[in-house]
Parts: sequence; C-alpha cells; structure tokens
Amino acid sequence: MRYPVTLIAGDGIGPEVTAAAVKVMAATGVPIEWDPVELNARVIQAQGKTLPDHVVDSLLRTRLGLKGPVATPVAGGFQSVNVALRKRFDLFANFRPVVQIPGIPSRFQSDPINIVIFRENTEDLYSGLEQEIVPGVVTGLKVITRTASTRIARKAFEYALLHGRKKLTAIHKANIMKQADGLFLACCREVAAEYPGLEYQEMIVDNASMQMVMRPAQFDVLILPNLYGDIVSDLCAGLVGGLGIVPGANLGESFAIFESVHGSAPDIAGKGIANPTAIFQCCVLLLDHIGEREAARRLHGAIVKTYAEGKHLTGDIGGTAGTAEFTDAVVAAMR
Ligand code: NAI
Repeated sequence: MRYPVTLIAGDGIGPEVTAAAVKVMAATGVPIEWDPVELNARVIQAQGKTLPDHVVDSLLRTRLGLKGPVATPVAGGFQSVNVALRKRFDLFANFRPVVQIPGIPSRFQSDPINIVIFRENTEDLYSGLEQEIVPGVVTGLKVITRTASTRIARKAFEYALLHGRKKLTAIHKANIMKQADGLFLACCREVAAEYPGLEYQEMIVDNASMQMVMRPAQFDVLILPNLYGDIVSDLCAGLVGGLGIVPGANLGESFAIFESVHGSAPDIAGKGIANPTAIFQCCVLLLDHIGEREAARRLHGAIVKTYAEGKHLTGDIGGTAGTAEFTDAVVAAMR
C-alpha cells in the first residue's frame, strides 16, 4: 500500500526542512508517494489567489499534507495561507504536543514537560473580519461559536481519554470578554461534564502564561481559542528548546495537514542551519496518523538517540551541525 501525501515546501527554511523530512521518511521504508505542490509567497502573488487550484486539487486527492511554513505579509498584503487552508479543509483542531527531549538543555530537567495543546483553528480573531469604521478607528471581529468551541473541547477530551491523560485546562479571558470567551468556557464545561473521570480546570490566559514559565509540569492537556493557542504554543516551544523542536497537526474530520509550530525563519533561511527536528516530529505524527506505528516509533527513537548522543546538534540547541548533518545523524540512528 502506498500513501499519497501532498508536500508543501513553503517559504524561507521550508524547502530546507521539508527536503530533510523527505529523506528521513524514505529511511523509515514507509512507501509515501509525495505530491510536491508549489505554495509560497511568490506563487500566491503571481496567481493572485491565496489557495491556488493545484494545491486544493492535490489535497482533495490525498487528504493528507506535510507542510513547511508560508510567509504572511505583516499589516497588509494577501490573507494568511495557513488560515485559508485551515478554513478550506475545515481543519478545526490544531494539535501541538510539547514534549521535552532528553539532551536538550532545559531549566525543567527534574520535572519534565509533557503538554498537549488543542488550539481551535478556524475562528476567533482570525476571522479576518476587520474594517476601518472612520479614519483612525479599526474594528476586528472576534467570532466564537458553540459548534467550533464544542468540537475542539470534545477533541481534547477524547484524546485525553484515549491516551491516558488526566487533567484538562481551558484557557480564557472570560473575565473581560464575558460573552465570547464566556461561550467558549460554557462549551468546555458542558463537554467536561460528559467525562467525569477526567479532571477539568479553567485558567485566565495571563496567569496561565506566568504559571507555564514558573511551573509548566502542572499542565497536561490545554484547550484554547485560536489566538491564545497560537501565542501559548510558542511560549511552550520556548520551554523545551525553541521553535526548532515542536511539531503540530491541523486535524479535521476528513483532512489532516502536519506542520511545525515555527514560521519561515527568514533570518536563517538559505544558510543550511535550520533545525529540522520539528518537521521530523511532524513526520512521527503523520506516520501515527496513517497507522504506521512501528515506523513512527523508530523515527522518534532515532531523534531521541541523536539528542542523547549530542554530537550532531544544530546551532539553536547549542551545537555546530547544519540541517544536513543532523538529518544524516537521525537517518543513521534509525538503522
Ligand atoms: P519564525 O518561527 O519564523 O522565527 C522565530 C525565531 O525562531 C527566529 O529567530 C528563527 O530563526 C527561529 N526559528 C524558527 N524555526 C527554526 C528552526 N527550525 N531552527 C532554528 N531556528 C528556528 O517566526 P516569525 O519570524 O515570527 O515569522 C516569520 C514568517 O513566518 C512570517 O511571515 C509568519 O507569518 C510566517 N509564519 C508561518 C507559519 C506557518 O506557515 N505555519 C507559522 C508561523 C509564522
């Protein structure tokens, strides 16, 4: 059996880390049939379309994607491709496991971090509904719906049940956004009531951010609306070695796109020094998703072994290796 997967290299370090991912996936022996499609800032500008047809057609066929980051212009320009993809394919759950890898320097060695983030992926302030009411006054709509809030909460609780997780924390700012975040919380509470065996708590996002920096081991599974989820994901990445490490998956009922938490990293693009661990961990999630559990376990084991040996680590983790050397070390560790 072959597995067709749409491959989006993206911008900046995207082509470098996705090429490395293709190499480690080949080393697992799992017959992936890549369908490389070009989706980056240049193509979007040239075609005048955020989601060009060739990308949509490929994903409709494969239902599965591995994606590098795509740059989004700040304060103007085209709409975020990431937001557009998540909406088009109804990838409502952004799943981000933040797990400490032994060998990566951390302040939290004695109390290892193992947090799973479920970020709502389709609404909130990412609705893109903004307008200038009068010159000098701009409003943006924060959209929270019962449907989207309930399904992200249910996804998180189902995951917790299936994976032996104990505690879920809903993160909010309902003391200020009483209706919008209030509805999000109400939905989380309703779902929590269906799972009496799992501990459920709520925390205001500012306090949660502080708690995460001080005592991250207290957190298990987090449920967040879109914007807080985006910010808290990067914060959590910083606790376990940075953006080079943490993977993610955009999950819907019929489609799944795997992508790192990090962006296109223009400051290091083209230098061959990006850490590909995050996208390798995306590959682990993808292999698990398609039921290739043994290959997922072997690839994950090879990443852990490479860090434990500590000889071929990239600059962001304090080493001197480039992307290629680290990749070769992971491939060698898999043998
Ligand atoms: P960024 O994640 O690209 O970079 C932040 C910092 O982390 C930089 O110092 C960078 O060098 C470092 N970094 C990121 N990934 C790394 C890796 N694999 N190895 C080593 N160091 C790494 O965030 P930034 O600068 O805010 O965003 C740059 C662009 O990426 C923007 O256009 C943004 O819209 C886009 N972006 C795209 C995402 C996606 O496609 N899913 C996600 C986040 C941002």
